[in-house]
Amino acid sequence: MTTTAPQQKITYTSTNVDMEAFHRAFDAALAEVRATAGKSYPLYISGKAIEVAGNDPIIDVSPIDTSLVLGTFASATREHVDQALRSAHAAQKGWAAMPWQERVRILRRAAELIRERKFLLSAIMSYEVGKNRFESMGDTEESADLIDYYCQQVEDHHGFTSEMAKMTPIERNTDILRPYGVFVCIAPFNFPLALSTGMSSSALMTGNAVVYKPAEDTPWTGLKLYEVYRDAGVPAGVFNFVSGHGREIGDPLWQHPMTDGVVFTGSKGIGMRIYHGLSQNWVKPCLMELGGKNATIVMDSADLDAAAEGVMRSAFGLQNQKCSATSRVYVHKAVAKAFLEKLVEKTKGITMGDVTKRDVWFGPVINEKAVQRWEKAVAQAGREGTVLHGGQRLRGEVFDKGHFLAPTIAELPLSSSLFMEELFAPFLAVAAVESLDQAIAETNKAEYGLTAGFFSTKQAEIDRFFDEVEAGVCYVNKKSGATTGAWPGAQAFTGWKGSGSSGKGGCGPWYVQQFMREQSRTVVEG
Ligand code: UN1
Repeated sequence: MTTTAPQQKITYTSTNVDMEAFHRAFDAALAEVRATAGKSYPLYISGKAIEVAGNDPIIDVSPIDTSLVLGTFASATREHVDQALRSAHAAQKGWAAMPWQERVRILRRAAELIRERKFLLSAIMSYEVGKNRFESMGDTEESADLIDYYCQQVEDHHGFTSEMAKMTPIERNTDILRPYGVFVCIAPFNFPLALSTGMSSSALMTGNAVVYKPAEDTPWTGLKLYEVYRDAGVPAGVFNFVSGHGREIGDPLWQHPMTDGVVFTGSKGIGMRIYHGLSQNWVKPCLMELGGKNATIVMDSADLDAAAEGVMRSAFGLQNQKCSATSRVYVHKAVAKAFLEKLVEKTKGITMGDVTKRDVWFGPVINEKAVQRWEKAVAQAGREGTVLHGGQRLRGEVFDKGHFLAPTIAELPLSSSLFMEELFAPFLAVAAVESLDQAIAETNKAEYGLTAGFFSTKQAEIDRFFDEVEAGVCYVNKKSGATTGAWPGAQAFTGWKGSGSSGKGGCGPWYVQQFMREQSRTVVEG
């Protein structure tokens, strides 16, 4: 790209500054993406391009306009999975033998390359996912920051090597964390760069090799990550790119005997299947982030404008397709009417349509399956309660080209299953509650426990929220997004209960250690 990149860093919570240079660079990148759309892409195993004949390739279309074919991606078979695992297994030994400082240097170079390529990467994501410009750039910037943050962790811990106490004067004791071997990394569509980068870079920098499967809806972004690692100097075979259909290669990937661990972000159903099946002969690490049904609680003392803004942004940013999205609200009955009026008003102001355009905030959902899930939920809401806003598929010129759904708010009885099931579509369930006790009890009823939001001006209530809510990522009075916008080094992204497996999340200080196992080394001298 020839366009000069402005220096500003966009996060998920950036507010408007002078964005002219940003928009010009973004427009140029979008044009470049359109000009290069429609090509065919192979798998990359052991650094070699592997063409796959037949086998139902992935036709990567934009959810904004399903007639726009972004690319055709090879669809791996079981045999390719076997080839990729063998290649990773063979390459891992040399990679792990490298001094950790060298791996960190290569990974830091990958972060630099992401920053250099940030407009192109973001423009691809904008088309592939249907993300607006700021969300796409946030995803890209987060990817680079994730690598740097994890590198910093390794450096701060001196490669996770520590001298230990001596039990006798003639012994030397060292504790060292060492890689497991090969991690299978399975990524979702919604943050196709940040989540893929976060999961894979931590596996790589700790000396593991990776077999990476991008989501079926976002293989192009995944391939761009492969190129970043390759160009940064990750040796052939250490990171393998295997696009394909989950129904065909999902199980073979984690069931392979050379798979030493799995890192997965996706649905709870698939995650639990992997978790239960992975450890047959011994226990293997299974690091998972599995979605949410995140609640925001609005108390009677809250700043209602801030609460309505924060909820609107978290409920409808990226069309509610973030694991961190607010998808239910419990509002104190004393302010329910006033809060809901403000929320509906703000939701009416959302700009919808072709989300690659500079002034459009809200785009399509990822595919037709998401549309169907949402339509079913809306029909149920109509039977059980009142749809306050939205409720229809959007129609008309731009909307007819893709999967566009109106941002929808429904007031429902607390007994509705719509407060408990993850939808990953623009649907917000709301209910009035009597008290903080009831709001927290309702919040904790869900099997998920990822993020939670709270609006109140009373310190005692805030303390109780933190102490009693069953969620890993908790925010109070966050107007820029009630439950969204976690950033590397600022908010660890940890799922409790059905939302995760290890209790220690990405973006946080305990993440990279999980890709290693401990070895105690005692040498007796004399
Ligand atoms: C996800 O959807 O799995 O906190 C991750 C946020 C984003 C991460 C979402 N950084 O909103």
